[in-house]
Amino acid sequence: MNVPENENPDVANDRFRAVVESAPNGIVVVSQVGLITMVNQRAEEMFGYSRDEFMEMSVDQLVPNRFRGAHPSRREGFHSHPKKRAMGAGRDLYAVRKDGGEFPVEIALTPLPEGDENHVLASIVDITQRKRLEVEIVRISENEQRRIGQDLHDDLCSQLSGIGCLTKVIEQKLASENPEEAALVKKVTEMVGQAGIRAREIAKGLVPTVLETKGLSRAIVDLVSRQQDLYGIKCEVKLKVSSRLDEQLPSHVAVQLYRITQEAVANAIKHSDCDSILVELKLIEGSLELSIRDDGKGMQPNDESEGMGFFTMKRRAEVVGAALAVSAAISDGTEIKCSLPFALI
Ligand SMILES: Nc1ncnc2c1ncn2[C@@H]1O[C@H](COP(=O)(O)OP(=O)(O)OP(=O)(O)O)[C@@H](O)[C@H]1O
Ligand SMILES: [Mg+2]
Repeated sequence: MNVPENENPDVANDRFRAVVESAPNGIVVVSQVGLITMVNQRAEEMFGYSRDEFMEMSVDQLVPNRFRGAHPSRREGFHSHPKKRAMGAGRDLYAVRKDGGEFPVEIALTPLPEGDENHVLASIVDITQRKRLEVEIVRISENEQRRIGQDLHDDLCSQLSGIGCLTKVIEQKLASENPEEAALVKKVTEMVGQAGIRAREIAKGLVPTVLETKGLSRAIVDLVSRQQDLYGIKCEVKLKVSSRLDEQLPSHVAVQLYRITQEAVANAIKHSDCDSILVELKLIEGSLELSIRDDGKGMQPNDESEGMGFFTMKRRAEVVGAALAVSAAISDGTEIKCSLPFALI
Protein backbone atom coordinates (compact mmCIF):
# COMPACT_ATOMS: atom_id res chain seq x y z
CA MET A 1 0.00 0.00 0.00
CA ASN A 2 1.20 3.56 -0.78
CA VAL A 3 1.72 5.61 2.33
CA PRO A 4 2.09 9.41 2.25
CA GLU A 5 5.57 10.44 3.39
CA ASN A 6 4.41 12.19 6.55
CA GLU A 7 2.32 9.25 7.74
CA ASN A 8 3.56 6.46 9.99
CA PRO A 9 3.29 3.27 7.85
CA ASP A 10 2.08 1.15 10.80
CA VAL A 11 -0.74 3.56 11.58
CA ALA A 12 -1.69 3.75 7.91
CA ASN A 13 -1.72 -0.05 7.66
CA ASP A 14 -3.92 -0.40 10.74
CA ARG A 15 -6.27 2.19 9.34
CA PHE A 16 -6.42 0.38 5.99
CA ARG A 17 -7.17 -2.92 7.73
CA ALA A 18 -9.93 -1.33 9.80
CA VAL A 19 -11.55 0.13 6.67
CA VAL A 20 -11.35 -3.21 4.84
CA GLU A 21 -12.73 -5.07 7.85
CA SER A 22 -15.73 -2.79 8.25
CA ALA A 23 -16.65 -2.77 4.54
CA PRO A 24 -20.12 -4.18 3.79
CA ASN A 25 -18.75 -5.93 0.67
CA GLY A 26 -16.57 -9.01 0.63
CA ILE A 27 -12.98 -7.88 0.14
CA VAL A 28 -10.17 -10.04 -1.17
CA VAL A 29 -6.68 -8.66 -1.81
CA VAL A 30 -4.70 -10.65 -4.34
CA SER A 31 -1.04 -10.64 -5.34
CA GLN A 32 0.13 -10.38 -8.92
CA VAL A 33 0.49 -14.18 -9.17
CA GLY A 34 -3.04 -14.66 -7.84
CA LEU A 35 -2.38 -15.51 -4.20
CA ILE A 36 -4.83 -14.21 -1.64
CA THR A 37 -3.03 -11.96 0.85
CA MET A 38 -5.89 -10.40 2.78
CA VAL A 39 -9.64 -10.88 3.28
CA ASN A 40 -12.30 -9.34 5.47
CA GLN A 41 -14.99 -10.95 7.57
CA ARG A 42 -17.69 -10.48 4.94
CA ALA A 43 -15.56 -12.50 2.48
CA GLU A 44 -15.27 -15.30 5.07
CA GLU A 45 -19.07 -15.36 5.42
CA MET A 46 -19.65 -15.21 1.66
CA PHE A 47 -17.28 -18.01 0.67
CA GLY A 48 -17.28 -20.22 3.79
CA TYR A 49 -13.48 -20.31 4.10
CA SER A 50 -11.68 -19.23 7.27
CA ARG A 51 -9.06 -16.51 7.08
CA ASP A 52 -6.27 -19.08 7.48
CA GLU A 53 -7.64 -21.20 4.67
CA PHE A 54 -7.85 -18.15 2.40
CA MET A 55 -4.18 -17.31 3.00
CA GLU A 56 -3.12 -20.55 1.34
CA MET A 57 -5.35 -20.19 -1.68
CA SER A 58 -5.19 -18.83 -5.18
CA VAL A 59 -8.01 -16.48 -6.09
CA ASP A 60 -8.71 -18.78 -9.07
CA GLN A 61 -10.27 -21.23 -6.59
CA LEU A 62 -13.08 -18.73 -6.04
CA VAL A 63 -13.92 -18.81 -9.76
CA PRO A 64 -16.32 -21.56 -10.97
CA ASN A 65 -14.59 -24.44 -12.74
CA ARG A 66 -15.90 -23.61 -16.19
CA PHE A 67 -14.36 -20.10 -16.11
CA ARG A 68 -11.21 -21.02 -14.15
CA GLY A 69 -9.00 -21.81 -17.14
CA ALA A 70 -9.40 -18.31 -18.57
CA HIS A 71 -8.90 -16.51 -15.26
CA PRO A 72 -5.06 -16.35 -15.03
CA SER A 73 -4.78 -14.62 -18.40
CA ARG A 74 -7.56 -12.17 -17.46
CA ARG A 75 -5.65 -11.46 -14.25
CA GLU A 76 -2.47 -10.79 -16.20
CA GLY A 77 -4.48 -8.55 -18.51
CA PHE A 78 -5.52 -6.47 -15.51
CA HIS A 79 -1.97 -6.17 -14.21
CA SER A 80 -0.62 -5.01 -17.55
CA HIS A 81 -3.08 -2.05 -17.46
CA PRO A 82 -3.96 -1.68 -13.80
CA LYS A 83 -6.82 0.76 -13.25
CA LYS A 84 -9.94 0.88 -11.11
CA ARG A 85 -12.74 -0.84 -12.99
CA ALA A 86 -15.62 -3.28 -12.83
CA MET A 87 -14.60 -6.87 -13.50
CA GLY A 88 -16.07 -8.62 -16.53
CA ALA A 89 -18.08 -5.67 -17.87
CA GLY A 90 -21.02 -7.03 -19.83
CA ARG A 91 -20.55 -10.60 -18.54
CA ASP A 92 -22.54 -12.23 -15.78
CA LEU A 93 -20.08 -13.16 -13.04
CA TYR A 94 -20.32 -16.04 -10.60
CA ALA A 95 -18.22 -17.05 -7.61
CA VAL A 96 -17.94 -20.46 -5.97
CA ARG A 97 -18.16 -21.20 -2.23
CA LYS A 98 -16.14 -23.75 -0.26
CA ASP A 99 -19.11 -26.15 -0.41
CA GLY A 100 -19.11 -25.88 -4.23
CA GLY A 101 -22.26 -23.73 -4.40
CA GLU A 102 -22.23 -20.88 -6.92
CA PHE A 103 -23.60 -17.40 -6.47
CA PRO A 104 -23.85 -14.39 -8.81
CA VAL A 105 -21.55 -11.49 -7.99
CA GLU A 106 -20.52 -8.01 -8.97
CA ILE A 107 -16.84 -7.23 -8.53
CA ALA A 108 -14.94 -3.94 -8.53
CA LEU A 109 -11.17 -4.11 -8.96
CA THR A 110 -8.76 -1.53 -7.57
CA PRO A 111 -4.99 -1.68 -8.14
CA LEU A 112 -3.03 -1.66 -4.91
CA PRO A 113 0.71 -1.14 -5.43
CA GLU A 114 2.62 -2.70 -2.50
CA GLY A 115 6.33 -2.02 -2.70
CA ASP A 116 7.57 -3.52 -5.96
CA GLU A 117 4.52 -5.70 -6.35
CA ASN A 118 1.14 -4.89 -7.77
CA HIS A 119 -1.71 -6.23 -5.73
CA VAL A 120 -5.36 -5.86 -6.56
CA LEU A 121 -8.24 -5.28 -4.21
CA ALA A 122 -11.43 -7.05 -5.29
CA SER A 123 -14.61 -5.75 -3.71
CA ILE A 124 -17.34 -8.36 -4.10
CA VAL A 125 -21.11 -8.01 -3.78
CA ASP A 126 -23.35 -11.08 -3.64
CA ILE A 127 -26.25 -10.20 -5.98
CA THR A 128 -28.31 -13.40 -5.50
CA GLN A 129 -31.23 -11.48 -4.05
CA ARG A 130 -31.15 -8.79 -6.72
CA LYS A 131 -31.08 -11.36 -9.52
CA ARG A 132 -34.02 -13.19 -7.96
CA LEU A 133 -36.00 -9.93 -7.95
CA GLU A 134 -35.02 -9.15 -11.54
CA VAL A 135 -36.16 -12.59 -12.68
CA GLU A 136 -39.41 -12.08 -10.78
CA ILE A 137 -39.90 -8.72 -12.53
CA VAL A 138 -39.52 -10.39 -15.93
CA ARG A 139 -42.11 -12.98 -14.91
CA ILE A 140 -44.53 -10.36 -13.66
CA SER A 141 -44.10 -8.19 -16.75
CA GLU A 142 -44.79 -11.17 -19.01
CA ASN A 143 -48.05 -11.79 -17.13
CA GLU A 144 -48.92 -8.09 -17.29
CA GLN A 145 -48.31 -7.99 -21.05
CA ARG A 146 -50.59 -10.97 -21.45
CA ARG A 147 -53.28 -9.38 -19.31
CA ILE A 148 -53.16 -6.09 -21.22
CA GLY A 149 -53.15 -7.98 -24.54
CA GLN A 150 -56.14 -10.04 -23.51
CA ASP A 151 -58.05 -6.99 -22.26
CA LEU A 152 -57.32 -5.23 -25.53
CA HIS A 153 -58.56 -8.19 -27.52
CA ASP A 154 -61.58 -9.21 -25.47
CA ASP A 155 -62.73 -5.79 -24.34
CA LEU A 156 -61.57 -2.95 -26.60
CA CYS A 157 -61.63 -4.91 -29.86
CA SER A 158 -65.16 -6.19 -29.29
CA GLN A 159 -66.38 -2.71 -28.24
CA LEU A 160 -64.90 -1.26 -31.40
CA SER A 161 -66.60 -3.84 -33.59
CA GLY A 162 -69.89 -3.13 -31.74
CA ILE A 163 -69.52 0.58 -32.53
CA GLY A 164 -68.69 -0.31 -36.14
CA CYS A 165 -71.92 -2.33 -36.45
CA LEU A 166 -74.01 0.53 -35.06
CA THR A 167 -72.50 3.16 -37.35
CA LYS A 168 -73.12 0.87 -40.29
CA VAL A 169 -76.81 0.68 -39.38
CA ILE A 170 -76.98 4.50 -39.08
CA GLU A 171 -75.22 4.83 -42.42
CA GLN A 172 -77.81 2.58 -44.10
CA LYS A 173 -80.70 4.49 -42.53
CA LEU A 174 -79.30 7.82 -43.71
CA ALA A 175 -78.34 6.59 -47.15
CA SER A 176 -81.55 7.45 -49.06
CA GLU A 177 -82.57 10.71 -47.32
CA ASN A 178 -79.23 12.26 -46.37
CA PRO A 179 -76.36 10.93 -48.52
CA GLU A 180 -73.89 13.56 -47.31
CA GLU A 181 -74.25 12.58 -43.67
CA ALA A 182 -74.30 8.93 -44.67
CA ALA A 183 -70.90 9.41 -46.31
CA LEU A 184 -69.55 10.94 -43.09
CA VAL A 185 -70.85 8.06 -41.01
CA LYS A 186 -69.31 5.65 -43.51
CA LYS A 187 -65.97 7.35 -42.83
CA VAL A 188 -66.49 6.84 -39.09
CA THR A 189 -67.22 3.13 -39.70
CA GLU A 190 -63.99 2.80 -41.67
CA MET A 191 -61.94 4.58 -39.00
CA VAL A 192 -63.41 2.42 -36.25
CA GLY A 193 -62.60 -0.64 -38.38
CA GLN A 194 -58.96 0.51 -38.75
CA ALA A 195 -58.70 1.16 -35.02
CA GLY A 196 -60.00 -2.38 -34.42
CA ILE A 197 -57.35 -3.88 -36.72
CA ARG A 198 -54.61 -1.86 -35.02
CA ALA A 199 -55.78 -2.87 -31.54
CA ARG A 200 -55.86 -6.52 -32.62
CA GLU A 201 -52.30 -6.25 -33.97
CA ILE A 202 -51.07 -4.73 -30.71
CA ALA A 203 -52.86 -7.46 -28.74
CA LYS A 204 -51.20 -10.08 -30.96
CA GLY A 205 -47.75 -8.74 -30.10
CA LEU A 206 -48.61 -8.74 -26.40
CA VAL A 207 -50.15 -12.22 -26.40
CA PRO A 208 -48.31 -14.27 -29.00
CA THR A 209 -51.20 -16.74 -29.41
CA VAL A 210 -49.48 -18.29 -32.40
CA LEU A 211 -47.10 -19.78 -29.82
CA GLU A 212 -49.92 -21.66 -28.19
CA THR A 213 -51.66 -22.71 -31.37
CA LYS A 214 -48.70 -23.52 -33.60
CA GLY A 215 -45.65 -23.73 -31.31
CA LEU A 216 -42.31 -21.94 -31.10
CA SER A 217 -40.84 -22.82 -34.51
CA ARG A 218 -43.91 -21.62 -36.40
CA ALA A 219 -44.16 -18.49 -34.22
CA ILE A 220 -40.54 -17.61 -35.00
CA VAL A 221 -41.14 -18.10 -38.73
CA ASP A 222 -44.19 -15.79 -38.52
CA LEU A 223 -42.32 -13.18 -36.50
CA VAL A 224 -39.35 -13.13 -38.85
CA SER A 225 -41.43 -12.98 -42.02
CA ARG A 226 -43.41 -10.05 -40.57
CA GLN A 227 -40.14 -8.17 -40.02
CA GLN A 228 -39.02 -8.94 -43.55
CA ASP A 229 -42.26 -7.52 -44.97
CA LEU A 230 -42.11 -4.45 -42.73
CA TYR A 231 -38.46 -3.46 -43.11
CA GLY A 232 -37.40 -5.06 -46.37
CA ILE A 233 -34.39 -6.71 -44.72
CA LYS A 234 -33.63 -10.25 -45.83
CA CYS A 235 -34.62 -12.48 -42.90
CA GLU A 236 -34.06 -16.22 -42.95
CA VAL A 237 -35.08 -18.92 -40.47
CA LYS A 238 -33.31 -22.29 -40.28
CA LEU A 239 -34.97 -24.94 -38.15
CA LYS A 240 -33.33 -28.19 -37.13
CA VAL A 241 -35.93 -29.40 -34.68
CA SER A 242 -38.51 -32.14 -34.78
CA SER A 243 -42.19 -31.28 -34.63
CA ARG A 244 -42.26 -32.98 -31.23
CA LEU A 245 -40.40 -29.97 -29.85
CA ASP A 246 -43.55 -27.87 -29.97
CA GLU A 247 -45.48 -30.53 -28.06
CA GLN A 248 -42.83 -30.97 -25.41
CA LEU A 249 -41.39 -27.50 -24.82
CA PRO A 250 -43.25 -25.95 -21.86
CA SER A 251 -45.18 -22.84 -22.89
CA HIS A 252 -43.51 -20.61 -20.27
CA VAL A 253 -40.15 -21.54 -21.85
CA ALA A 254 -41.37 -21.03 -25.42
CA VAL A 255 -42.63 -17.55 -24.61
CA GLN A 256 -39.27 -16.43 -23.18
CA LEU A 257 -37.36 -17.77 -26.21
CA TYR A 258 -39.87 -16.03 -28.47
CA ARG A 259 -39.38 -12.71 -26.64
CA ILE A 260 -35.58 -13.06 -26.86
CA THR A 261 -35.91 -13.59 -30.63
CA GLN A 262 -38.24 -10.57 -30.86
CA GLU A 263 -35.74 -8.30 -29.06
CA ALA A 264 -32.63 -9.59 -30.85
CA VAL A 265 -34.26 -9.21 -34.27
CA ALA A 266 -35.54 -5.73 -33.32
CA ASN A 267 -32.01 -4.77 -32.24
CA ALA A 268 -30.49 -6.02 -35.47
CA ILE A 269 -33.00 -3.96 -37.45
CA LYS A 270 -32.66 -0.86 -35.26
CA HIS A 271 -28.92 -0.75 -34.65
CA SER A 272 -26.85 -2.90 -36.97
CA ASP A 273 -27.33 -1.49 -40.51
CA CYS A 274 -27.37 -5.10 -41.70
CA ASP A 275 -28.41 -6.56 -45.04
CA SER A 276 -29.64 -9.83 -43.64
CA ILE A 277 -30.64 -11.60 -40.44
CA LEU A 278 -30.49 -15.33 -39.82
CA VAL A 279 -32.46 -16.98 -37.01
CA GLU A 280 -31.63 -20.59 -36.22
CA LEU A 281 -33.30 -23.01 -33.84
CA LYS A 282 -31.52 -26.34 -33.41
CA LEU A 283 -31.83 -29.25 -31.05
CA ILE A 284 -28.43 -30.87 -30.56
CA GLU A 285 -27.20 -33.27 -27.89
CA GLY A 286 -29.45 -32.30 -25.04
CA SER A 287 -29.40 -28.62 -25.85
CA LEU A 288 -31.84 -26.33 -27.62
CA GLU A 289 -29.83 -23.66 -29.40
CA LEU A 290 -31.40 -20.42 -30.54
CA SER A 291 -29.23 -18.02 -32.49
CA ILE A 292 -30.00 -14.63 -34.02
CA ARG A 293 -27.22 -13.37 -36.26
CA ASP A 294 -26.89 -10.24 -38.37
CA ASP A 295 -24.22 -9.17 -40.83
CA GLY A 296 -24.20 -5.58 -39.63
CA LYS A 297 -21.66 -3.32 -37.99
CA GLY A 298 -21.19 -5.32 -34.74
CA MET A 299 -21.31 -3.92 -31.23
CA GLN A 300 -18.94 -1.75 -29.19
CA PRO A 301 -17.66 -3.06 -25.83
CA ASN A 302 -20.01 -1.03 -23.65
CA ASP A 303 -23.09 -1.10 -25.88
CA GLU A 304 -24.82 -3.79 -23.85
CA SER A 305 -25.39 -1.51 -20.91
CA GLU A 306 -27.15 1.13 -23.07
CA GLY A 307 -30.80 0.06 -23.08
CA MET A 308 -33.28 -2.32 -21.47
CA GLY A 309 -33.18 -4.92 -24.24
CA PHE A 310 -30.05 -6.81 -23.24
CA PHE A 311 -30.91 -6.62 -19.60
CA THR A 312 -34.29 -8.27 -20.18
CA MET A 313 -32.96 -10.83 -22.67
CA LYS A 314 -30.50 -12.03 -20.03
CA ARG A 315 -33.14 -12.19 -17.30
CA ARG A 316 -35.52 -14.03 -19.65
CA ALA A 317 -32.79 -16.61 -20.34
CA GLU A 318 -32.26 -16.99 -16.60
CA VAL A 319 -35.98 -17.49 -15.95
CA VAL A 320 -35.85 -20.67 -18.06
CA GLY A 321 -32.35 -21.81 -17.03
CA ALA A 322 -30.69 -20.94 -20.34
CA ALA A 323 -27.34 -19.26 -21.00
CA LEU A 324 -27.20 -16.18 -23.19
CA ALA A 325 -24.01 -15.23 -24.99
CA VAL A 326 -23.26 -12.29 -27.25
CA SER A 327 -20.50 -12.35 -29.79
CA ALA A 328 -19.94 -9.25 -31.80
CA ALA A 329 -17.15 -8.38 -34.15
CA ILE A 330 -16.99 -5.19 -36.17
CA SER A 331 -16.46 -7.16 -39.39
CA ASP A 332 -18.85 -10.04 -38.69
CA GLY A 333 -21.93 -8.41 -37.19
CA THR A 334 -23.57 -9.63 -34.00
CA GLU A 335 -24.77 -13.02 -32.83
CA ILE A 336 -27.01 -13.63 -29.83
CA LYS A 337 -26.92 -17.24 -28.77
CA CYS A 338 -29.22 -18.77 -26.23
CA SER A 339 -28.56 -22.34 -25.08
CA LEU A 340 -31.12 -24.24 -23.06
CA PRO A 341 -30.50 -27.72 -21.66
CA PHE A 342 -33.37 -29.68 -23.22
CA ALA A 343 -33.93 -33.12 -24.66
CA LEU A 344 -36.98 -34.65 -26.25
CA ILE A 345 -38.55 -37.56 -24.43
N1 LIG B 1 -27.39 -6.26 -33.48
C1 LIG B 1 -26.76 -5.15 -33.06
N2 LIG B 1 -25.83 -4.54 -33.85
C2 LIG B 1 -25.19 -3.42 -33.44
N3 LIG B 1 -25.41 -2.84 -32.23
C3 LIG B 1 -26.32 -3.38 -31.41
C4 LIG B 1 -27.04 -4.58 -31.77
N4 LIG B 1 -27.85 -4.90 -30.74
C5 LIG B 1 -27.65 -3.97 -29.80
N5 LIG B 1 -26.74 -3.05 -30.19
C6 LIG B 1 -26.22 -1.92 -29.38
O1 LIG B 1 -26.42 -2.26 -28.03
C7 LIG B 1 -27.19 -1.27 -27.38
C8 LIG B 1 -28.04 -1.90 -26.30
O2 LIG B 1 -29.11 -2.68 -26.85
P1 LIG B 1 -30.45 -2.82 -26.01
O3 LIG B 1 -31.37 -3.72 -26.74
O4 LIG B 1 -30.08 -3.21 -24.62
O5 LIG B 1 -31.02 -1.35 -25.97
P2 LIG B 1 -31.80 -0.50 -27.08
O6 LIG B 1 -32.18 -1.41 -28.23
O7 LIG B 1 -30.96 0.69 -27.42
O8 LIG B 1 -33.07 -0.02 -26.32
P3 LIG B 1 -34.35 -0.91 -25.88
O9 LIG B 1 -34.05 -2.35 -26.23
O10 LIG B 1 -34.42 -0.68 -24.42
O11 LIG B 1 -35.49 -0.38 -26.66
C9 LIG B 1 -27.95 -0.58 -28.49
O12 LIG B 1 -28.27 0.75 -28.15
C10 LIG B 1 -26.96 -0.64 -29.65
O13 LIG B 1 -26.04 0.41 -29.56
MG1 LIG C 1 -33.17 -3.21 -27.90
